[in-house]
Amino acid sequence: MDFDETYCQANFIRISKDVKLGKNVKIFGFVNLYGCEIGDNTKIGAFVEIQKGVKIGSNCKISSHTFICEGVTIEDGVFIGHNVTFINDLYPRAINERGDLQTEKDWKVVPTLVKRGASIGSSATILAGVTIGEYAIVGAGAVVTKDVPPYTIVAGVPARILRTIRDFDDEKKGDPNAY
Ligand SMILES: CC(C)(COP(=O)(O)OP(=O)(O)OC[C@H]1O[C@@H](n2cnc3c(N)ncnc32)[C@H](O)[C@@H]1OP(=O)(O)O)[C@@H](O)C(=O)NCCC(=O)NCCS
Repeated sequence: MDFDETYCQANFIRISKDVKLGKNVKIFGFVNLYGCEIGDNTKIGAFVEIQKGVKIGSNCKISSHTFICEGVTIEDGVFIGHNVTFINDLYPRAINERGDLQTEKDWKVVPTLVKRGASIGSSATILAGVTIGEYAIVGAGAVVTKDVPPYTIVAGVPARILRTIRDFDDEKKGDPNAY
């Protein structure tokens, strides 16, 4: 895909000049990207917003209607479902103590990390400051409040561990290093 001005306008895509796109990235309509980095072959579905400072690795799938805020790092091979929301401020305020609209000086971004090969189900909310371990799976609709260990399935509100897995879906038995 060549994201020139004509293509972006026709598809209602906004990619600011400071975005670093890898090779063969696919971006669908109504996407808003600024100040972020997207790795090779990654796909970004419609109506996704990715804020400044976000780093997304290669071979990731970011499904439609997801919001990825400043402070989030997503490693290679991660699946993000539809309508997933990341959070970078646990105690948000519109105004500061003086009653003025907050600026970046009034609050601190809390970072979040999604490690290689993890999957996040649709409509999950990932609270600020957590790490989702390698190949972990977050169930649809979960609210993740704590770190998720690698190779672990969590679900619910707040997310709790359902079980651990040896590989992608624990049906693919055999060599755990196969992927
Ligand atoms: C969580 C998930 C991975 C299944 O994991 P699992 O370990 O195989 O879980 P099971 O299906 O065996 O269910 C175990 C229990 O968790 C519950 N459960 C399953 N998924 C759940 C979810 N998303 N939220 C809350 N509870 C859930 C089941 O009802 C069951 O409860 P019970 O023991 O009281 O009957 C799957 O249900 C899921 O949510 N996947 C995400 C899919 C998705 O969003 N895809 C996006 C692209 S379409």
